[in-house]
Amino acid sequence: MARIISVINFKGGVGKTTTAVNLAACLTRDAGLRVLLVDMDPQASATLHLWSIDAHSAEMEGASRTIARLLFRAGKDLPYDIDRFLIPVRKEYRGRKLDGMHLLAGDNRLIKLDRGLGNRPTLLDSVLNPLRERFDVIIIDSPPVMYSVIQNNILASDLYLIPSVADHVSTSGIQHLMKILGSYFEKYRAIIRDRQARLAGVLFTRVGGLNVQLHRKLMQQVRDDFLKGAYAAYGVPAGSDPVFETTIRERIDVARAAAERVPLVLFDGNSDVSVDYLRLSRELARRFALAPAAPTGV
Ligand SMILES: Nc1ncnc2c1ncn2[C@@H]1O[C@H](COP(=O)(O)OP(=O)(O)O)[C@@H](O)[C@H]1O
Ligand SMILES: [Mg+2]
Repeated sequence: MARIISVINFKGGVGKTTTAVNLAACLTRDAGLRVLLVDMDPQASATLHLWSIDAHSAEMEGASRTIARLLFRAGKDLPYDIDRFLIPVRKEYRGRKLDGMHLLAGDNRLIKLDRGLGNRPTLLDSVLNPLRERFDVIIIDSPPVMYSVIQNNILASDLYLIPSVADHVSTSGIQHLMKILGSYFEKYRAIIRDRQARLAGVLFTRVGGLNVQLHRKLMQQVRDDFLKGAYAAYGVPAGSDPVFETTIRERIDVARAAAERVPLVLFDGNSDVSVDYLRLSRELARRFALAPAAPTGV
């Protein structure tokens, strides 16, 4: 049964998409999990990390195989064949291969669904739930704003991961995010009952450069805020470390790999950021006991 994890932050440029794509690739290649990446950003950045615009358009047959179309049909209770929407991600780069991962592709038409999604906060949940049998982990990339989407993402999720850069504005943004998520959980308590998403952890990205001291201080501050119980009302489990041990270093390889339309592990498995994302995938798998499904039958 898949665990569903949203990568979420109202701030842009904090590494949400980079984290969603690279975590998905590492969990597929390294941990051998059946991974589905869901691109819920109308800018389709995760999808465009893997395909050029032209190739994307050909692969998705215009827009007929994207998440926007899928949610449109599901929202109107029209029948759909989910296998048409699950796009296999098969990549090869300098002899390194990625196989076995799937994508629900992004599409800017998601913007048109804004109101519909606002009225149907559990629409994504209803689409993803039947897929839990077929995957070990489902990772959802979120847009920075667009509350209707973020609400759908969080109500479909078991866990949420908050990437943040270590500066004052961003770490203060975490408090704002936690408050909004808390208000969703409150508002939809009757629907979600005991399945309220839990914090997987705050992930510090783009760490390094000249600011190592400041980064350390801010990371500790976030940890202290959580441990002091400042966020206890918003569903953070007591006693668990709210900040991932792994941090992601700031390196130009991130942009280089994206330009080649491949995840970092394929681009250069030995680069610092590649090593960091591999470490993150192992930390996440260990913390939440993500494991391949036991083989069934003979
Ligand atoms: N660890 C990193 N080192 C260097 N650049 C990074 C790193 N993570 C992300 N970036 C760059 O920062 C920009 C924003 O990253 P992205 O993952 O798209 O953030 P978000 O999805 O939160 O907007 C992109 O240009 C990306 O290449
Ligand atoms: Mg993004």
